[in-house]
Amino acid sequence: MSLVSSVMGRGIVRTIRSLPDKKFPIIAGHKLQYSCNLKCKMCPFWRREDETLLNLEDEIRIMDSLKKAGVSFLGFEGGEPLLRRDIGDILYESKRRFHTSMVTNGWLLKAKIEEIRDSLNYMFVSLDGIGEVHDRLRGMAGSFRHAVEGIEAAKGYMPIAISSTITRENMDQVQGIVDLAMKLGVSVNFQIAYDYTTAERMSPEKMRLRDTIKMLEGYKLSGLPIVNSKEYFSSILNSWYGNDPWRCKPWLTINIDPLGNIVQPCYVLNEYNGSVKVWDTNILKLWNTYDWTPYESCNKCALACYLEPSLFNWHNPAMVKERILDSVVSLVRGDLSW
Ligand SMILES: C[S@@+](CC[C@H](N)C(=O)[O-])C[C@H]1O[C@@H](n2cnc3c(N)ncnc32)[C@H](O)[C@@H]1O
Ligand code: SF4
Ligand code: SF4
Repeated sequence: MSLVSSVMGRGIVRTIRSLPDKKFPIIAGHKLQYSCNLKCKMCPFWRREDETLLNLEDEIRIMDSLKKAGVSFLGFEGGEPLLRRDIGDILYESKRRFHTSMVTNGWLLKAKIEEIRDSLNYMFVSLDGIGEVHDRLRGMAGSFRHAVEGIEAAKGYMPIAISSTITRENMDQVQGIVDLAMKLGVSVNFQIAYDYTTAERMSPEKMRLRDTIKMLEGYKLSGLPIVNSKEYFSSILNSWYGNDPWRCKPWLTINIDPLGNIVQPCYVLNEYNGSVKVWDTNILKLWNTYDWTPYESCNKCALACYLEPSLFNWHNPAMVKERILDSVVSLVRGDLSW
């Protein structure tokens, strides 16, 4: 996961208006590696055996290629990005070019905060339940404690949101996660687990999930610190439980795998396998010759990094206010806490 609506602020207006009829990515996600210090049940990435790391020069080549294609927001993830020895340098180079975010399991956050504190505009720390529920899903005792201590250590330096993945084992934890976010003074972003073929099948049972989504929609409408847009919840309800699909626009988000390959059409459908190097590719040409049509009605996943940008609509004043104006104000204040 990683990027969500809250990062859709400055830069996007300029970029979108300059290329009105073309398809181009605005947001980029990049897995710095697949390896991880945890073993989450729903996650396919720590199980991969094809790990090779790029060096800092190649990471910069990726950034320069993305910048040239018009990307404004770069989000780092993995695997666990804080395991990279050069994470401080990578984030430093990214923040010189992009609005920069990272999603981490938080285990190493307290130890690494000094190295990264000035190089992030926004950080997501994953928490899927309270205490033992989180530890069980993450496959490691102590995960919850480390993540909470990490949030406390990092809180003063950048806006932080909990990233919470809803699975069949933690649907009853949603209220506790929102309460914890408020206690910690951060916000929270939810997404629904997708069943990758190489991980445990953990996506929630559809009928139980419906009540949870409705509850979250209610929380959002009542002003609780939830990063997802209210349309994120209503679109899932309308599509998965009604007959009204959202139009997926996977071209708004470009994903780059640990080797620098572009993952197309999206993160999910090809299970994170890229084929062409981003620095050898004319991204705009690729984006505007690729046939995206089959994916518009897909609606298979509810990953926030694709669904939230897909829902954005310049003709909806409330959305422009919440997703653009308010986030610009928050960025200027440097504080998205509640
Ligand atoms: C793959 S992890 C990488 C970053 C870091 N290791 C972490 O856990 O935050 C990024 C996010 O993807 C979420 N995730 C893992 N497996 C997922 C799945 N099957 N469906 C949807 N999200 C998933 C994680 O919970 C996490 O919030
Ligand atoms: S901590 Fe992140 S990358 Fe690691 S196993 Fe869990 S979800 Fe996957
Ligand atoms: S809804 Fe389908 S096309 Fe869109 S991001 Fe998810 S899997 Fe990809």
